[in-house]
Amino acid sequence: MKKVCLVLGAGRGIGATVAEKFALEGMHSHLCRRTDEAALQESIEHIQKQGGSASGELLNAIEDGAIENLVDSVEKNVGPVEVLIHNLGAQSGMKLLDQTSLKEFEWAWKIANLSLFRAAKVLCPLMSARGSGTVIATSATAAMRGNKNQHSHASAMAGKKILCQTLNDEFSGQGIHVAHVVIDGAVDAPDTLGKMLGDDRFTELRETRGKGDGLVLPSKVAEAYYYLYSQHRSTWTHELDLRSYSDTPWWNHPNASMAMAPKN
Ligand SMILES: NC(=O)c1ccc[n+]([C@@H]2O[C@H](COP(=O)([O-])OP(=O)(O)OC[C@H]3O[C@@H](n4cnc5c(N)ncnc54)[C@H](OP(=O)(O)O)[C@@H]3O)[C@@H](O)[C@H]2O)c1
Repeated sequence: MKKVCLVLGAGRGIGATVAEKFALEGMHSHLCRRTDEAALQESIEHIQKQGGSASGELLNAIEDGAIENLVDSVEKNVGPVEVLIHNLGAQSGMKLLDQTSLKEFEWAWKIANLSLFRAAKVLCPLMSARGSGTVIATSATAAMRGNKNQHSHASAMAGKKILCQTLNDEFSGQGIHVAHVVIDGAVDAPDTLGKMLGDDRFTELRETRGKGDGLVLPSKVAEAYYYLYSQHRSTWTHELDLRSYSDTPWWNHPNASMAMAPKN
């Protein structure tokens, strides 16, 4: 059985592209997303056509038991999970406090924090028993700074960052490498940013940012993730901050997340 790279949140941006990279490097990738069977199959077939090994399923990661059942079935039927890519974000648009419902705040926490916690609860003991494993958590600018439109998103992503630190503290000595990756900018991701902006604005953004690489390119994120996985344990990276050359870093940005702000 091949070692498995399990991707939670395998849309056609970062998630499926990272799955492709790990599969083409020789692992088996198992792709999970919430909706869109056709897109899921397209991603799996794209990997297989290049000679990679891949499978996948639809699942809602915040449903009780979904992650526990997934890990159990992958470990039994597909192979040992060597790498977990937790690629679930909690972006739901730009909203002030009075526009942010309790339900939305709770959803953000569930998707960014609880789902990672649940995955860690079942996977870390398995990885620890095997003496190795890698957990890479995709995160966002919002993990690094709050702003008035991001109550649920920022608190959830900051929680994800700190959960990664606590996992690191407990498990690095047991051979598990946990890395929190801040994606500090808009990603060329049709299933997330593309849907949020709509076709016209997404196309405009793609065409006007930089020279074709002014958005964060998923294929380059995938290379960074594979590098993290390949690192020697004497020099593990635990925090990585990725942004396009054309973007202003989060600590200097006057209008955080403006790329996602609705047009008035
Ligand atoms: N896109 C950006 O501009 C941007 C910027 C900064 C950081 N990030 C970070 O990047 C990560 C996402 O990567 P991406 O934007 O390139 O997207 P992606 O990998 O193309 O897709 C992520 C996928 O997550 C899936 N998902 C959402 N809720 C889920 C749930 N409850 N259960 C299972 N799957 C679920 C969605 O599936 P369905 O479509 O089927 O619902 C979506 O396609 C997030 O951690 C986000 O914080 C993105």
